[in-house]
Amino acid sequence: MKQFPKDFLWGAGASSHQVEGNTNNNWTAWERDNSERLSREAKIRWDKWQQEKFPEMFDVRNYISGATCDHYNRFIEDFNLAKAGGHTAHRFSIEWSRVEPEEGRFDEREIEHYRKVLTALRERGIESFVTLWHWTEPIWFEQNGGWESKKSADYFCRYVEKMANSLGDLVIFWIVINEPNVVVKFGYLIGTQPPGKKSLVSFLKTYFNLLKSYKKSYELIHSLNKDAKVGFANSFVCYESDIFKPLDKIIVSIAKYFSRYFFKQTKGFNDFIGCNYYSRSLISLKKKGFSSDQRTDLGWEIYPKGIYEVLKEIKKYNLPIYITENGLADADDSKRERFIKDHLFWVRSAIEEGVNVRGYFHWSLMDNFEFPEDRGFWPRFGLIEIDFQTLKRKPRKSFYVYREIISTRGR
Ligand code: BGC
Repeated sequence: MKQFPKDFLWGAGASSHQVEGNTNNNWTAWERDNSERLSREAKIRWDKWQQEKFPEMFDVRNYISGATCDHYNRFIEDFNLAKAGGHTAHRFSIEWSRVEPEEGRFDEREIEHYRKVLTALRERGIESFVTLWHWTEPIWFEQNGGWESKKSADYFCRYVEKMANSLGDLVIFWIVINEPNVVVKFGYLIGTQPPGKKSLVSFLKTYFNLLKSYKKSYELIHSLNKDAKVGFANSFVCYESDIFKPLDKIIVSIAKYFSRYFFKQTKGFNDFIGCNYYSRSLISLKKKGFSSDQRTDLGWEIYPKGIYEVLKEIKKYNLPIYITENGLADADDSKRERFIKDHLFWVRSAIEEGVNVRGYFHWSLMDNFEFPEDRGFWPRFGLIEIDFQTLKRKPRKSFYVYREIISTRGR
């Protein structure tokens, strides 16, 4: 097999609320109100083997982000590690609640903080991919009706405009929104994330306000920075079924249709596709679960070929593709090396078949507060291990494996 292209970008990702520490946003409030319930419900939420391996899931503290990795104060140390690992790109998010703590009042010191973050990356030869909204929002925004409010797009775009104006000289790649299809599902339909709603009406309002906000942001950033590359990160699950079961196949098509809907509606508003890939969902009305015994600590199936299936599926849009997330919860680091190698094998196969993949971001640079669906600290996604008592960083074995892959361009 050939090596990866010379200009292929290699890196890892993180998001503000998961790593910075001491944020004050809608999730902070949610954690305060729900941590006790979550520690009790761990007994019914997780399998026996998970409960035995990760008893910390019964501890209330598991569900409170608190200082998390203190990346806000230690970003230099973390970027030095990324650099030592050979990374040439890094994905992170701006914490909206820091830069606009009160409605319409921007905090210039916090903006300056992100300028320092961007400059530190630039000084290390690391390309920044900046996420503008990775699910956390200022308390005032939520109090004003959040994404259900008619004014949400105006509020969000005011923030986007300010960021594009203040940081645009240091940023080319903007990821406006992270996984819109996931955040609206869990926050507004299933109710396991803030604001905890279970309403189809709220879900639809949010969905379309997000769509509107995204498209407006795309235009806004381009009007301010003509060289900017703007897109969003979409969660692409590989849906499959037993090909002999027609009913399962119909369900697969429906699942695919809805999970790709947001993306399809943004046609003409993407300079690239941000592809988050983690696993396959095997749809079967009869069988439960999946065939492979390879699974992560969260119980997700490890299915490397799925990344290839997804890449082949989205090739038709003729846009550059970045793998903006791909990784696993693997506390003892026994599966991460194989995981990375196998997924990259399939990424490279797709490239050889003409898919325009330009970069890969492992999720995550370091262990962090795994906030989707309130999982907390126990799932360990990092190339770098964090001791949450001392905040000491320790690169895992897979960190060095990834470094080797980067330095040989996958040979
Ligand atoms: C999210 C990340 C999260 C990861 C693993 C993605 O859906 O963007 O914030 O940590 O999945 O669950």
